[in-house]
Amino acid sequence: MENMLNVYLFGKKYEVPAGLTIMTAMEYAGYDLVRGCGCRNGFCGACATIYRIKGEIELHGCLACQTEVQEGMYVATLPFFPLEKRVYNIEEIKPTQQIMMQLYPEIYSCIGCNACTKACTQELNVMQYIAYAQRGEYDKCAEESFDCVMCGVCSSRCPAGISHPQVAMLARRLNGKYIEPECGHLSDRVKEVNEGIFDKEIEELMTKAVDSIEEIKDMYNHREIEK
Ligand code: FES
Repeated sequence: MENMLNVYLFGKKYEVPAGLTIMTAMEYAGYDLVRGCGCRNGFCGACATIYRIKGEIELHGCLACQTEVQEGMYVATLPFFPLEKRVYNIEEIKPTQQIMMQLYPEIYSCIGCNACTKACTQELNVMQYIAYAQRGEYDKCAEESFDCVMCGVCSSRCPAGISHPQVAMLARRLNGKYIEPECGHLSDRVKEVNEGIFDKEIEELMTKAVDSIEEIKDMYNHREIEK
């Protein structure tokens, strides 16, 4: 007899086997997931979820594909969160402290509550990367926020209305375009791709994708790695 747990999905009670992720528990319960899931491996950010354990006051943020169900878990998913995204042309802006002040002035209303960091599904130090953005330290902001999957759970908890993932995205763009030295090797490879040097291999790979995932895995494991 499997060890069964009681979980509440969208307010309705279900008995599901222990060891399932929230995502697989939803499917076990009969939900057909057409939104709020993507990579299923914890790096697309589509399955942002909040939950609370019965009898506890703390509200948790997580990715449904990565988090195992627990007894008494009340779950609600956030398949979309309305982040505030400002429009800019990366070619026309510069990595100055002023650009953050112009585009995302609300970051200076941060009250230091750290709710963003506590909510982060990737365990990032969100409040710290916002502090770097405030000071115009875009290289540090980019580094600290690198694993952000833009799930938006941090923003859902922010009393200052900050759209942290969008702030971090701007910092990474500024860092990539203006601060980090250009990677010559990458430019050469992009040129080669555009010239069609790898067309045959890409074609082969696309055909295999339909046929056999195992074959692709094998190709990946035995791929040529440049020194
Ligand atoms: S399905 Fe992609 S992060 Fe969960």
